Amino acid sequence: MTQHNFILLGPPGAGKGTQAEALVEKFGIVHISTGDMLREAVAKGTELGRQAQQYMDAGKLVPDDLVIGIVRERVQEPDCKRGFLLDGFPRTLKQAEALSALVEELHLAKPCVINIIVDDEEIMRRLSGRRMCRQCNAIFHVASDNVDVGDKCPICGGEIYQRPDDRKEAIAERLRVYHEQTDPLIPYYADRGQLVSVPGEGSISEVRQRMLQGIKCSD
Ligand code: AP5
Repeated sequence: MTQHNFILLGPPGAGKGTQAEALVEKFGIVHISTGDMLREAVAKGTELGRQAQQYMDAGKLVPDDLVIGIVRERVQEPDCKRGFLLDGFPRTLKQAEALSALVEELHLAKPCVINIIVDDEEIMRRLSGRRMCRQCNAIFHVASDNVDVGDKCPICGGEIYQRPDDRKEAIAERLRVYHEQTDPLIPYYADRGQLVSVPGEGSISEVRQRMLQGIKCSD
């Protein structure tokens, strides 16, 4: 069985979660969002969630060892046999190096890295207007989806909420941290011939088309 693995790279709000579904459906692979896994741990009040919450709410990164540990376990689960899409991981050089070592150790297919490019001003607009469903994790925007905090999710009826890290100060901090710690991954993957860069502005379907056209590197 051919395995297809992908990494979605890009600043907070670039549209990684929004675009993930297209790849997951096309290749029949598993969507692994470290942000969703950490938020779930926080909601359940687990030890991992307790350790992660203060970093997340402030827009800081959770310590590398915690995140590397959860990804290491998750990619070895049986549903990842056909492949996986990592959304929000890796975010530091240490995480990228740990993932490269894991790919070698477990003889996994080398991931194709899709870098979604969006400027900081557009990120601020997108994230300050983002709303999410607490139940199914669907993503909406107040300007285009007619959905706001306290409404019911149009997909599953769950509660619509705003993420604590989508407050303006936390968004600014996430962007700062992104440029400092995650930008270096772009040359890291470019040097290894794994990087495809896609402009992330335009409609959601335009970005999806560009992304699907760009991923020939996974063959
Ligand atoms: P995480 O959940 O991964 O957040 P993020 O990377 O900051 O990304 P987002 O989910 O905010 O954005 P997205 O790119 O998925 O955009 P979306 O599709 O929603 O991480 C949260 C926190 O967890 C981190 O800050 C950190 O603390 C911790 N964490 C997670 N992973 C970690 C790791 N590896 N190491 C350490 N800590 C980690 O879209 C955004 C909005 O824009 C939506 O409203 C959407 O409708 C809209 N939109 C999307 N596309 C378009 C378009 N083309 N045009 C117009 N609007 C659009």
